[in-house]
Amino acid sequence: MEQEICRTAWVARSLKDTARLAEKLASFAAPGTVIALDGDLGAGKTTFSQHFAAALGVRGIVNSPTFTIIKEYQGETLPFYHMDVYRLSLEEADELGLDDYFYGSGVTVVEWASLIPELLPPDRLELWIKSDGDGARKMEMTGRGYPYCDWVRAWDRMGAAEDEHQQG
Ligand SMILES: Nc1ncnc2c1ncn2[C@@H]1O[C@H](COP(=O)(O)OP(=O)(O)OP(=O)(O)O)[C@@H](O)[C@H]1O
Ligand SMILES: [Mg+2]
Repeated sequence: MEQEICRTAWVARSLKDTARLAEKLASFAAPGTVIALDGDLGAGKTTFSQHFAAALGVRGIVNSPTFTIIKEYQGETLPFYHMDVYRLSLEEADELGLDDYFYGSGVTVVEWASLIPELLPPDRLELWIKSDGDGARKMEMTGRGYPYCDWVRAWDRMGAAEDEHQQG
């Protein structure tokens, strides 16, 4: 069967909005969840990851894993694997055996995921963060396959509904 692909874009007008998206996505997370994050330097990838980790119940500080490449945390019910592949070549990334994380019992967030498309699971949520003015970020989401397409549809329904609410 052909892979289903669902896209949406949404503007996070503040850090609070970014946190709201991270919390919603964390509420969908299950063993084997993979979120592929991209965006320019300083776009907000690590900031999103920190809110996501907090929503999973990770206690303590979640730092940028740029130098450690992979950091493992324990959430309330799920392990959380935080990766940053910015400094890796495709060959180096391949040697790390990332599949053990992607298909493991935890939830993985990969910063700079678009550098290693060949190594990512075909089914994943892609989140591309783009600066959209002071404090605002455009969130471009692509759900590839199950259950990520459903996540995107669910966000479109719930996120959009809450936006209308905010506007009164
Ligand atoms: N709506 C927003 N969402 C996320 N970050 C925001 C937002 N508004 C402002 N920011 C700020 O933008 C900065 C994002 O930095 P962050 O380290 O998360 O980016 P990054 O994409 O991980 O960068 P790098 O590629 O260098 O690792 C933070 O200082 C954060 O407070
Ligand atoms: Mg970062």
